[in-house]
Amino acid sequence: MAQHSTFDIQRSEHPRTAEERAAILDNPGFGRYFTDHMVVIDYEEGKGWHNHRVVPYGPFSVDPAYMVLHYGQAIFEGLKAYRHADGEIVTFRPAANAARFQASAERMAMPKLSEEDFIDSIKELVTIDQDWVPQPGGEECLYLRPFMFATETGLGVHPAKKFTYVLIGSPAGAYFAHGVQPVTVWVSHEYVRACPGGTGSAKFAGNYAASLAAQDAADKQGCDQVLWLDAIKRENIEEMGGMNVMFVAQDGDDVTVITPALSGSLLPGITRDSLKTVAQDLGYKLEERVITLTELADRVAKGEITEAFACGTAAVINPIGTFKSRDGEFTVNEGKSGDITLKMRATLTGIQRGERADDHNWLYKLV
Ligand code: PLP
Ligand code: COI
Repeated sequence: MAQHSTFDIQRSEHPRTAEERAAILDNPGFGRYFTDHMVVIDYEEGKGWHNHRVVPYGPFSVDPAYMVLHYGQAIFEGLKAYRHADGEIVTFRPAANAARFQASAERMAMPKLSEEDFIDSIKELVTIDQDWVPQPGGEECLYLRPFMFATETGLGVHPAKKFTYVLIGSPAGAYFAHGVQPVTVWVSHEYVRACPGGTGSAKFAGNYAASLAAQDAADKQGCDQVLWLDAIKRENIEEMGGMNVMFVAQDGDDVTVITPALSGSLLPGITRDSLKTVAQDLGYKLEERVITLTELADRVAKGEITEAFACGTAAVINPIGTFKSRDGEFTVNEGKSGDITLKMRATLTGIQRGERADDHNWLYKLV
């Protein structure tokens, strides 16, 4: 078993005042503000992970020859800390994020950070910045962003031998500016996000860079997000830019939740994985399989597929109202949030916020 490391702690001399913090927590938006501290851990081949520290949040000095700036070895994670009514602060399935961070590192020829270091870094940051975790009762929480990038200097193309791991925290409300309202998606036939053998199943920074031109195209179509199809046939629904997708089929009282199977090119979402369990707990059937855009459109037209939603840490669960593509558009559930979607959302957020039993031991106490 890996050892727990000791973190050096250097407190900020200029933390935000209670008033400044309260003003931010009042309307945090998503990813706009950061807490007073950050965690940094260095890596060097031969020496391993070292210099574990909590320091004031602030800019780095960056060498122009850092390999990340040229060849892009950079990965990240995303998870949240919630304050419960009894004052405890918890996070959700951090070991799953630690494992995915290791899988992303492996794919990008980067060193693995141990689960202990990953989870300890979260404990350290949330402990020192605990006042930044919003009060219970609303949608707000503290979004945690672990990431790692190559800091060896040089222009030769090879896996770097030096890296930096950083954890920052950002108080967060609803991911979409308009709150939990159905979004409109643009189904991209022109661009693809990922392909078999590519990097789609890693939380690799370049995947997000590669998605931005398509996101611009979606904006021009008046859509909120891109819905990606598979790279080969441009037919199978994969996922969105930062969220997995699920569909609800109803036949009388029979409810089936359908989600695209992990194809190797889509990101194995922890929300997706948790909702598979929630769906079954709620007595719904679960289908994890290939679903094409044609099947979706046909079954929506026949009234068989009645709801669609996106799911991920940042957005939790957000209904999808309209699907637009070069071939036309169709709307699910008259563009309204569906009952099953809202029930699954209430169940998951209820567990995360300590308002429902955590039967699967998904919560991890931080403070
Ligand atoms: N798909 C992509 C491309 C993502 O970036 C994310 C966000 O992390 C997800 C899906 C959802 O994953 P998770 O539920 O683990 O946040
Ligand atoms: C998340 O849900 O944590 C994400 O990473 C989505 C997006 C902000 C990239």
